[in-house]
Amino acid sequence: MRRLCSLAALLVALVSTAVAERKRIALMTASFPWTFGPYQAQMYELSLILDSSGIEYDISWVTTKPLRRGVYRTWEDVPKTGVVDPPEGFRVDHLTFVGNGWDDGGTLSASRINALGREHGFDHVVTLMDITKCVPDEPFRQPVTAWIPLHSETVRKTSVDYWVLRSYHGIAALSPSGARAMEDAVGAHVDYLDDGSGEPSAMGRMRGAAQVDFVPHVINRRRIAKNAEDGLRMLEKRSVAEVDSALSGQPIVDNIREPTLRPDTDESLFGRDSTRKDDFVVLIQGGNYDAEDRKGWDTSIQAYARFYNSLSREEREETHLLIHSFESYLMSSDDNNNMDAPAAVMPIGLAIELALRDIGMPYGSYTVDIAQHDVAVVAAYKKRASVCLHPSKVEGFGMNVLECQSVGTPVITTNYTAMADFTKVGIAVPHRQMLRAPGAIYDLALPDVEGIADALREMHGTHLAMKRGDQSAMIRRQADVTEFNGWVDRTMSPRSVGERFEALFARAELEFESRAAGRLDFRSGRPPTVNAVRVVTGYHTPVVDWDEPWTLLAPDGLRLTNVEAMNSIAWSLLLDDGTASSMVAIVPARYLDDGSHVPAMGEGGRTMNDDLPMMVRTFMIKAFQGRMTRMKTMKVSAITNEGNPKQFPDGFALIERNVGAVGGRRELLDELLDEL
Ligand SMILES: *[C@@H]1O[C@H](CO)[C@@H](O)[C@H](O)[C@H]1NC(C)=O
Repeated sequence: MRRLCSLAALLVALVSTAVAERKRIALMTASFPWTFGPYQAQMYELSLILDSSGIEYDISWVTTKPLRRGVYRTWEDVPKTGVVDPPEGFRVDHLTFVGNGWDDGGTLSASRINALGREHGFDHVVTLMDITKCVPDEPFRQPVTAWIPLHSETVRKTSVDYWVLRSYHGIAALSPSGARAMEDAVGAHVDYLDDGSGEPSAMGRMRGAAQVDFVPHVINRRRIAKNAEDGLRMLEKRSVAEVDSALSGQPIVDNIREPTLRPDTDESLFGRDSTRKDDFVVLIQGGNYDAEDRKGWDTSIQAYARFYNSLSREEREETHLLIHSFESYLMSSDDNNNMDAPAAVMPIGLAIELALRDIGMPYGSYTVDIAQHDVAVVAAYKKRASVCLHPSKVEGFGMNVLECQSVGTPVITTNYTAMADFTKVGIAVPHRQMLRAPGAIYDLALPDVEGIADALREMHGTHLAMKRGDQSAMIRRQADVTEFNGWVDRTMSPRSVGERFEALFARAELEFESRAAGRLDFRSGRPPTVNAVRVVTGYHTPVVDWDEPWTLLAPDGLRLTNVEAMNSIAWSLLLDDGTASSMVAIVPARYLDDGSHVPAMGEGGRTMNDDLPMMVRTFMIKAFQGRMTRMKTMKVSAITNEGNPKQFPDGFALIERNVGAVGGRRELLDELLDEL
């Protein structure tokens, strides 16, 4: 009997293997897996997870930077563009590289992803990039799940993010707070109250409700801890440059000659015989390639200086600031066959050492290391540190924060976005206020310099207590670390991330079908006559907080002759598969008094006619509103952005001349004078 059962099981297994089709999945991110950047590294982790899962996947790697169109089964087949080769032993045999054919460097959009999906038959696309990188110009035509670092606390309807997020079927949020914010914003259907059934309407289902879950990056805690131990052991005997060279097999590049980073100096932080083994070392480590200084280098340096100045002379001698920053020009060597960036490449971030000197930090009290290191060295810095100072203005995930805690080092962060979720060993300092810069997409949290200095003092106190052998301080730290370790292993292991993704993929695929069904219902029914177009008027446009997919930029004096038909056409423009989608439609109009056509160009023929009604996709208006308010500037920008505007049929719009400010001036003046 048992034999029979197992035979049957074997048969079932055989049949299902024969029937099971390989699932074609595309992983899309900025560059190749081995180049610098957490997004590449994490997408690569996902590829390994998928490769070892029970499902048979064909995994395509698609970069968002231009690569000649084609399918390349091995890295050797990929047309070379100067991108550095994978390091020795780096596994890529489970990946097929797909060239996107985007040679114009244009913006990434849903239509571009759809075209690739059609060409290569992708069953599911997974993206990992900042939200606003992808223009939602048309609905996705295959299931798309976005792995998303949210850079704000909430997603407001007045944000560009709202429109982009709505287009995805699945959203894998990198933090629990991000998941809540995105669920609140786009996790339910848009409430189109057109059929009164209480069920989402066809329009509502067509636009969809994103399936959201928290799916973190993979943190392999044991690997990080092992790297840190190996790195520390090597740094006891060798300089940083020598260790890098030994680990990478590359020649020694001695760009950092700091005595603190050599094993045999009096100042050494790492040497086996160093007298500074118990010094309080504050590490600031991270990228410094952001014009907005989102990592908060500026405020961290200010906070450290306050803390340092509050110490006694003896305490200062046993305290050191170790800075390891990754500069923008280091990244360009990945695309330059690993060569040092040309002299003309300028850095983008903060001038860190200048900031330290300007604030009065004495030489010898800090080390600034601006070099790319082996992962073992990077991890060893974290383990050597007494605290990692990482109070950013925002984090979508904050890899650094998790890596520090993984080697048992506490962190000081900002109690904002992912940092609030992931600070388990250490202190999350409440931010002071918000910051908004002209043209910036997100508000940033302003780190509280005094609060951070206080947190440093508190950590310093704990450090001294532990150094004295204070049992309760040591037990408390150990308890925090143990709790962190358990939580990371449960939540961020490859297995956990894999299971969360599998579940989310399934939900995203159902959502894709639901949108497709909504579309079918929508097509088979009478086209709806409402909710497609929001009409706005005025010299300055109102701030978008509506869900109508189109916004009609209407001149003063506009009279629409058939609003219902206009809505129907606008809906069907959105569904126009096959032809290139368009984000702009001109609405031809006539003047009411003499029936003449409103010309496209204004007087003199050099600028657009302000009287021309123009229908623009609402998300585009939304994107413009970060930088402009005048309707006429929006119209010109819309045409500049959309090379291929559609044209509405004739007969929808009439314009009464000289309505509005200019026309009314004479009468208004008379009235005012009369009143006087
Ligand atoms: C962040 O602030 C919230 C609200 O004040 C608080 O409940 C939470 O405990 C803080 N988080 C951390 C990690 O300190």
